[in-house]
Amino acid sequence: MSSNRESFMHGKQLTKVFGFGQQKVTAVQAVDFDFHRGEIISIVGESGSGKTTLAKMIMGLLKESSGTIEYKGKTRQLKRHAERKAYWKDIQAIFQDPFASFNMFHKVEKLLLDCIKLQGLQLTKDERFAKMKEACSFVNLKFEELYNKYPFELSGGQMQRLMIARIFMLHPKVLIADEPTSMVDACSRSTILDMLLKLRDENNMTIIFITHDVGLAYYISDTIYIMEKGKIVERGTAEEVILSPQHPYTKQLIADVPKIHEAWNLG
Ligand SMILES: Nc1ncnc2c1ncn2[C@@H]1O[C@H](COP(=O)(O)OP(=O)(O)OP(=O)(O)O)[C@@H](O)[C@H]1O
Ligand SMILES: [Mg+2]
Repeated sequence: MSSNRESFMHGKQLTKVFGFGQQKVTAVQAVDFDFHRGEIISIVGESGSGKTTLAKMIMGLLKESSGTIEYKGKTRQLKRHAERKAYWKDIQAIFQDPFASFNMFHKVEKLLLDCIKLQGLQLTKDERFAKMKEACSFVNLKFEELYNKYPFELSGGQMQRLMIARIFMLHPKVLIADEPTSMVDACSRSTILDMLLKLRDENNMTIIFITHDVGLAYYISDTIYIMEKGKIVERGTAEEVILSPQHPYTKQLIADVPKIHEAWNLG
């Protein structure tokens, strides 16, 4: 369980307000969180509940309206280039739509080579190829079949696996996976989930998994945060939240998945 893991990322009263006056939308409201090394956290909520907005603030892609993030014992600062560079070395994201995540004009080989460059590694050509092959085999892709292709020549499932191969090469401390399985079939979905579990087990990566699917959240996570209209209404271990939900919204989400108990053999 997460209790004996090092706690290293905290959100304090994170809030994001979009727009002004009549158009004002509070997408995320006073969210607190505590993430540990090697923990898999799911953030679960319906469409529009603020999951992606929260993820983007954690990534540092969207500036919070108020509140702070503490990272490795200090308040995170992203004003200076060096601060952003250091933070983004530690934190990476994969999103729902792999098409939106890749430069479509770069071949697979370049997409992987960029990861080596980003790490500032000085490698020989053979070493570079060995690293790219290792990353592809981690996600069950054959580098020889892919390296000369463009991302749009791959299937959705292959592209998501390529995203994970990049994460394998970059080995960030924190990975945010925003609905990474919603555009792939059931078979690719379970492969992707198993790869995420493997990344955590082998690299002690912290994974923030965003989904509207309580079943997936139960399968993959140690800890679940339930988000409703910008607020975290319930949080706890996966077992606590799914097996004995306290908040009416959580109960409703679970009731909407009548088969969850059968599907996960919960009796
Ligand atoms: N750039 C923006 N400008 C204005 N409003 C925004 C912006 N981004 C998000 N919102 C609003 O903030 C709220 C939360 O959106 P968000 O995308 O975070 O939800 P979500 O939980 O990720 O939903 P989904 O499950 O559909 O991806 C919504 O009401 C949305 O319309
Ligand atoms: Mg979203």
